[in-house]
Amino acid sequence: EAAEKGGYEHFMLKEIHEQPRALRQALTGRVDALSGDVDLDLGLPEEYLQSLEEIQIVAAGTSYHAGLYAEQLLEELADVRVTTHVASEYDVGGGRDPWQTLVVAITQSGETADTLEALRSAKASGARTLAVTNTVGSTVTREADETVYIHAGPEIGVAATKTFVSQVATATMLAVALGRTRGALSRDEASAVLDSLRGLPGAIQQVLDREAEIEAIAQEYADREAFFFLGRRLGYPVALEGALKLKEISYDHAEGFAAGELKHGPLALVTDDVLVLSVLTQGSNPEATLHNVAEVDTRGAATVGFGEAKGDGSVLDHSFSVPEAGLLEPVVANVYMQLFAYHVARSKGRAIDKPRNLAKSVTVQ
Ligand code: G6P
Repeated sequence: EAAEKGGYEHFMLKEIHEQPRALRQALTGRVDALSGDVDLDLGLPEEYLQSLEEIQIVAAGTSYHAGLYAEQLLEELADVRVTTHVASEYDVGGGRDPWQTLVVAITQSGETADTLEALRSAKASGARTLAVTNTVGSTVTREADETVYIHAGPEIGVAATKTFVSQVATATMLAVALGRTRGALSRDEASAVLDSLRGLPGAIQQVLDREAEIEAIAQEYADREAFFFLGRRLGYPVALEGALKLKEISYDHAEGFAAGELKHGPLALVTDDVLVLSVLTQGSNPEATLHNVAEVDTRGAATVGFGEAKGDGSVLDHSFSVPEAGLLEPVVANVYMQLFAYHVARSKGRAIDKPRNLAKSVTVQ
């Protein structure tokens, strides 16, 4: 097992560091940034994609957060109505007009029972289905009409890391491909997004190179009573994912909030024993979130920000820059949060690769 960990103490840390490579694999042979073209070998007729009225995403756990990210990308780049559903709550059976609806199941393992069940009910209603998965030959690939692989390589740690980033990258390619097919995206616009995508492995590497700094922050704040993650727009799914990662492996109380919702309840929980971590990148309306950071600062919470919002940075106790990555900047910020979760859990001696009560793939409903 030590050999499989490639010198890392845990699979999770190895997989966090594998992200640039996993992403390069996901992009290989699929992206032509110069021409703005993406080839995902989708297998769905062009006329169908052009007349598509709705996309419904079904997923669970980390894949659900990737779905929320994908939803915003698809709406913006492909001009299509998208809703994202927690798979176990999906009961809309293919939407208003199933024949014009594509149901996309995002699942790392391809075996999550709730996600498979949602896919089956969508199929039964007449909707077409697409699987976005990491696992060749998994059940979802046999049941969905079409499959797109995220090509992240095997993920052993129960807490998903590299597959989240690869899911978002694959969703970006899907959004660009659809946007081009539907005439919603010009060649230049597509090229710009694909440029950001090609730069993503390098941007993530720059964050990984700062691991020692984030480890120091993790050690300083590991004993806080609670951890809140804030984000807006594309930063919102990242805040949810940051909190999920921390609670999964450190067993600490961690919550992700849409920053604007803070004043509608969560603010009551903020004390000087809380740490608030915020997404302040492009694509996440950082200036507005910085106001929320000021509110928690006033209540004595310690604050960490990822990305550079213009405004009163003095409300941040710690600030980490995020390399330029366009619409993908929030997912770059997520890598800091993965490292933060890992080092908090490690400082507490948790069973990081196999957290209590959790399984890598949940095959019961
Ligand atoms: C389990 C895992 C999570 C994962 C979720 C969905 O809860 O512990 O890490 O995000 O299942 O799994 P899937 O394979 O469908 O992406």
